[in-house]
Amino acid sequence: VPVRLEDYRAPAFTIDTVSLDFRLTPEATRIKARMAFRPNTAEAASGRLELAGDETKLVAIALDGVPLDAGRYVATPDRLVIEGVPSRPFTLDIETEVDPSANTKLMGLYRSSGNYCTQCEAEGFRRITYFLDRPDVLAVYTTRIEAEKTEAPVLLANGNPAEAGDIPGTGRHYAVWHDPFPKPSYLFAMVAGDLGVVTDRFVTMSGRDVELRIYCEHGKEARCAYAMDALKRSMRWDETAFGREYDLDIFIVVAVSDFNMGAMENKGLNVFNDKYVLADPDTATDADYAGIETVIAHEYFHNWTGNRITCRDWFQLCLKEGLTVFRDQEFSSDERSRAVKRIADVRTLQARQFPEDGGPLAHPVRPEIYHEINNFYTPTVYEKGAEVVRMLKTILGEDGFRRGMDLYFERHDGEAATVEDFLAAFADATGADLSQFKLWYAQSGTPEITARGQFDPAAKRFTLTLAQTLGPTPGQPIKRPMHIPIRFGLVGPNGEAIEAERVSGATVTGDVIQLTAPSHTVVFEGVGARPVPSLLRGFSAPVKLSTDLSAEDLLFLVRTDSDPFNRWQAAQTLAMRTLVEGTAAIRAGRRPAVETALIDALGVVAEDATLEPAFRAQVLTLPSEGDIAREIGRDVDPEAVAAARSALRAAIAGRLGERLAALHAGLADAAPFRPDAAGAGRRALRNVLLDLGVAGGTPEAVARARAHFEAADNMTDRIAALATLCAAALPERLAPLAAFRKRYAGDALALDKWFTLEATVPASDTLARVEALLADPAFSIGNPNRVRALVGSFAAANPTQFNRADGAGFDFLADFVRRLDARNPQTAARLLVSFRSWRSLEPVRRAHAEAALAGIAAAPGLSPDTRDIVTRTLA
Ligand code: ARG
Ligand code: ZN
Repeated sequence: VPVRLEDYRAPAFTIDTVSLDFRLTPEATRIKARMAFRPNTAEAASGRLELAGDETKLVAIALDGVPLDAGRYVATPDRLVIEGVPSRPFTLDIETEVDPSANTKLMGLYRSSGNYCTQCEAEGFRRITYFLDRPDVLAVYTTRIEAEKTEAPVLLANGNPAEAGDIPGTGRHYAVWHDPFPKPSYLFAMVAGDLGVVTDRFVTMSGRDVELRIYCEHGKEARCAYAMDALKRSMRWDETAFGREYDLDIFIVVAVSDFNMGAMENKGLNVFNDKYVLADPDTATDADYAGIETVIAHEYFHNWTGNRITCRDWFQLCLKEGLTVFRDQEFSSDERSRAVKRIADVRTLQARQFPEDGGPLAHPVRPEIYHEINNFYTPTVYEKGAEVVRMLKTILGEDGFRRGMDLYFERHDGEAATVEDFLAAFADATGADLSQFKLWYAQSGTPEITARGQFDPAAKRFTLTLAQTLGPTPGQPIKRPMHIPIRFGLVGPNGEAIEAERVSGATVTGDVIQLTAPSHTVVFEGVGARPVPSLLRGFSAPVKLSTDLSAEDLLFLVRTDSDPFNRWQAAQTLAMRTLVEGTAAIRAGRRPAVETALIDALGVVAEDATLEPAFRAQVLTLPSEGDIAREIGRDVDPEAVAAARSALRAAIAGRLGERLAALHAGLADAAPFRPDAAGAGRRALRNVLLDLGVAGGTPEAVARARAHFEAADNMTDRIAALATLCAAALPERLAPLAAFRKRYAGDALALDKWFTLEATVPASDTLARVEALLADPAFSIGNPNRVRALVGSFAAANPTQFNRADGAGFDFLADFVRRLDARNPQTAARLLVSFRSWRSLEPVRRAHAEAALAGIAAAPGLSPDTRDIVTRTLA
């Protein structure tokens, strides 16, 4: 049965306090829960109390201390219904039993590498005990944990430590934790095990002394240093940027190796996928370091946006996720290069969210219906949700945005809020009318903007016609015009900014055109020379923009635009045009034309020492095969796309090869590895140059990549060289791949990189290789990181081989998903998302994809997670 936003009702009862007592054993953990209930609405008068469960096993139950007669309640694995409960406050005691070792879904209480841990968001708490497992029931939790001392010397839960001790004569011990902040059940966490720890301190802006701890597997403590540093920087940044201070005496991060998602913001006890905690130069790349910084910040920032103010219901998920992604993006922008971070974020948005918005899984930032909430932790809710917050800031300005945030925190601290509450805070703080803006939360799909410019030199008038359209998406045939902020500049002949004397036709606030109607004719008066419009600067809205700019105008922007994002964008747009035309040429049996002006412009950027190396690396990175396929949009032949991309890269190498090689040599870095933005940028540029060199196919370039691999003294360079050899499917990749496998034999996270490289080689024997690697001793179907590294990257990052013309790639994924679904539905459903663009394939591949999906749909016993994705994908 689907859940609908319009059906929301406040809970009949609520729970004020929860006392939990865990007696941990690997296969039969007992949990006693004592819950103080209170009637919350008139509906409580019915005396019927329904609590949620999920494979939950009841052992004992008592109301106000008196065991309940069997006739008073019905307990099934997925619910507990009690009749005749009092219409005054009462206490319910429930004892349940859980087998943590058998919990392969990694939801609720489970074991990971012998340690006990929990994951409760979204609906995992009900797998621990029967509960009002919904985010608008906020309770104060006290948690007692008891375990074998040798098995679990470390006992952790939310809040502050209250009490601990031995249980004499039993070899067992206990600890009690108390969290004074009322919270929903999805933020509950408990961890127990034999773990190593690093500690530090942080003094908050008001002088509160906070103990910081990061727990990890023994022996990996040294790899937690960067995460700890990122945590302290995050804590300081949230004080400065948002005035938000930490509120408990202790903040704990635990790294676990089996985790469905990236990490989880449980109050005071964040649980992380270890890939977002552990790093050292030998095992982690610059991208891994950046990912750790982002995820540590993200989970920490949830303490205010998510925990202190939580969501009323799961439809409001973007209220915490979109906002918190926006906050972590801003943090990383302040810590690193704002322009480069923006480019990277937009690349991710376009690669992950745009295809979602353009396909069968499209849904609004705030969905209105779901079958399985776990399937809505999506790029739309997270990344597009962040873009919506960013637009709010663009529309209201820095000050207005901050005032709105302050009011939101002030008004809703301690509450479960909605998107309406969030927008009301901004409207009330600034007086802005956000009624049209609110459509960003309700309408799915990516708006398309067209822009046409006309210059009248005699009248000194520049006319810009902007039009917006938003096509139909599942469940939404007709759309209304949106409020779209277009940041812009008019670039004069020498690259100078042109200020018009008068502007009419749209509201223009500073350098932002407020697009609100289906189309606007914006007239700029007093413009002395023909300007080139630079539109959507900084990617001021998550839209697809098409302009009438000529190749010459775009090259001009690449050279002169004062907005670095749009310099990058202009180069990408030009490259995209070339790649789309090249793909068409290849399909028509012609050779793609060589675009020398574009190549020369890339050469100029590459050699421009006034530009940040990381930025230059971004400009030199062409749109991916996925980007090109999305741009083409229909009847896509992934082989032709790949061939066109290779052809352009080869043309770049052919024309600039020696210059790029010289540049590469000149960038040699004698300094020891440091994971900071500057060092990462230099490595990124060098490695992009190395990679472009290999695209030229000369033996010298290949030898250079091999030498680079051998000489690398850090993972970033090592993996970059190897990735270059793999992406070109060169036989020279084989020995380094084997050496890498051997070098990192004991290191699961490092081997994930190897699995990924193996799975993404664009060669016809890759599928067979992936199938063989399922039997590699380092692979485990039970570990989500392994599954994503091998199978996930084959499906999501190997376009030619996943989309094989014979359909074998699709069949492989379909079989694997069915197998995984029986163990871990959440991770299985997520893999299946790789089918989302199947309708845009050419007919032969499309038919194979449809058959594979139909095969899954027909399989008996599918989980709700996988059933939901397959049904919507086929619809
Ligand atoms: N709230 C977590 C975050 O920081 C994600 C948890 C998602 N969990 C899930 N079972 N879907 O984004
Ligand atoms: Zn989050």
